[in-house]
Amino acid sequence: MLAGHEQDPGPSALALRLMAAVHRLVLTGGAPDLAAHYSSVGGTGDPAAAWPTFRQVLVERVAEVRAGLASPPQTNEVGRSAALFGGLLQLLPDGLPVRLFEIGASAGLNLLADHFTYLAADGGAWLPEAPRQPGEESGRAGGDRGVLLDPAWDRVPEDVAARVRIVERGGCDLSPIDATTEDGALSLLSCVWPDQSARLARLRSALLVARDEPVSLVAAGAGDYVESLELREGAHTVLWHSVMWQYLPHEEQQRVSARVQALGQAATEAMPFTHLAFEPRRLEPDGPHRFVVTATSWPFGQERILGEAPPHGVPVTWWGSNA
Ligand SMILES: C[S@@+](CC[C@H](N)C(=O)[O-])C[C@H]1O[C@@H](n2cnc3c(N)ncnc32)[C@H](O)[C@@H]1O
Repeated sequence: MLAGHEQDPGPSALALRLMAAVHRLVLTGGAPDLAAHYSSVGGTGDPAAAWPTFRQVLVERVAEVRAGLASPPQTNEVGRSAALFGGLLQLLPDGLPVRLFEIGASAGLNLLADHFTYLAADGGAWLPEAPRQPGEESGRAGGDRGVLLDPAWDRVPEDVAARVRIVERGGCDLSPIDATTEDGALSLLSCVWPDQSARLARLRSALLVARDEPVSLVAAGAGDYVESLELREGAHTVLWHSVMWQYLPHEEQQRVSARVQALGQAATEAMPFTHLAFEPRRLEPDGPHRFVVTATSWPFGQERILGEAPPHGVPVTWWGSNA
């Protein structure tokens, strides 16, 4: 099965490619015997029982699975909206409309964060404009209840904006995925492991939102993309990103940072700019990497750590005064 891949470098994630290729077969109905064991399609979720059938699929479907090995695993983790959007909600005292841009956006699902419902562990919530109640049928195909992040946060942070008016949104990725196509949806779903039901549920819900609200993404590196960004009078321009910084070559990181600084210098009270990130970072020189929500807003221009979360973004612990 893996012949020819013996020298693949570790970061090419060969094992994940194999699992995703088989998961894709299961999701498309191409391996019904194996599907009986995959909880992503209603199966038992018993890995020991799945193994003989899994092995049989490898034996019988060599060509299809080997073809699937060519695709690098690519995810778009909707849980990270809890970190990015929860951060943004704390940075809008001016009430200006928001222009939202993302680098390394994958399928752009987190650019739809204002359509999601955020519940806090302490009983609070942030609801989108027309929230769907649990159990309530929506207008969306499949009777979806909308994206529910529960719990998204430990608590609703102080002074969050009740409403956000996003007047422009866009993003880039080296390999953007079109979430409105069957193929794009399958690429994302196959890279979430079949027993991760909460991740699959929020991804499936977000894919339905994306069909109603397609986001425009360009195939571009982060460095080129940020150089094309400009601020606009009367709007708050926001650049955000999650778990993509580590993939940028050092030179491209420097280009992005330089452009962020330049946009910051150009910002005024009538034309503010915010850089928001959810990325792993060492907070002490020899400490572990922690996934932190950081924000810098100009014209003030001082970076703050707003909170931290597990790698998939939920739940966020906010670091505010009443943390
Ligand atoms: C781990 S994924 C995270 C995707 C998304 N930000 C999220 O949190 O779900 C990293 C993404 O960065 C993209 N990427 C890698 N290098 C890039 C670059 N130089 N410029 C833009 N995007 C890049 C990858 O294609 C991939 O979609």
